[in-house]
Formats: sequence, structure tokens, C-alpha cells
Amino acid sequence: MKVAIASDHGGMNIRKEIMALMDELNIEYIDFGCEAGCSVDYPDYAIPVAEKVARGDFDRGILVCGTGIGMSIAANKVEGVRCALVHDCFSAQATRSHNDSNVLAIGERVIGPGLAREIARIWLTTPFDGGRHETRVSKIKAYEAK
Ligand code: RB5
Repeated sequence: MKVAIASDHGGMNIRKEIMALMDELNIEYIDFGCEAGCSVDYPDYAIPVAEKVARGDFDRGILVCGTGIGMSIAANKVEGVRCALVHDCFSAQATRSHNDSNVLAIGERVIGPGLAREIARIWLTTPFDGGRHETRVSKIKAYEAK
């Protein structure tokens, strides 16, 4: 699995925490910023990461900002992206097994690094269940293709 990860200035600490986790799990990733000391606009990070996932350059994307909301709104504008804003472990598991989410958004001002790390671990390692959930995800894809 290859992961594209980025954050704005509000999400740098959790981004680093998740990169350390991916190092431990031997998951390949590329860090698309932002740089330390920056103050940036989250769409400038969310949209390029989402496009890389939609094109198939990366299997998954992870985006962190202050709330996770801006990143998730922006990423979900990109066709083919199913970005889930997650702040609990149950949703991390459910959005992979039910929604086949391909981008994860987290808010650093909402949860701490330990929970963020566990959410990312679950999200990165849970497979899609398919079956009836594939039918449902297909309806989202069909709407996008209109
Ligand atoms: C930046 O101050 C903040 O607005 C951003 O990190 C994010 O929370 C937006 O949704």
C-alpha cells in the first residue's frame, strides 16, 4: 500500500505521529507537507492528495487539519474520493469495511495523538467488506459518473 499524507499548520503534530506509525508498520508513504512554521490554506493540500488517490498514484490518502472538516470537505469534491472524517475507533473500522473510504481526515484540535494513531492504524489495516456494501458504494460512484 502507498499512502499520500499532508496537513496544514493545524495538523502537523498528528501528521508526524501517523508517519511514525507508518514507518513502524512498513507502509510506504510520501509526505506532501506543509512545512514547519507555515500558515497555509487546507484546500491547497487536500485537493492534490485527493487527486493523487483518485488517479491511482496512491492507494490511500491521509489529511490532517485543525478540525479535519476543511480537509474532508475539499477532498470529497474530487471524483472517486471517499474521504471519512474520523475521531473514534469504531468509525475508523466501519468506514473501511462499509464505505471503502480511500482518504482519512483527522482534526488535531479535536483528539490527541494517541487516539489519532490508533484510528490511523485501524483505518490502514481494515479491509473493505464488499458484498452489500459494494452495492451501496457503487451507487455513489454511479452518481459521480452522471
Ligand atoms: C486553520 O486555522 C483551520 O481552519 C484548519 O486547520 C481547519 O480546521 C479547517 O477546517
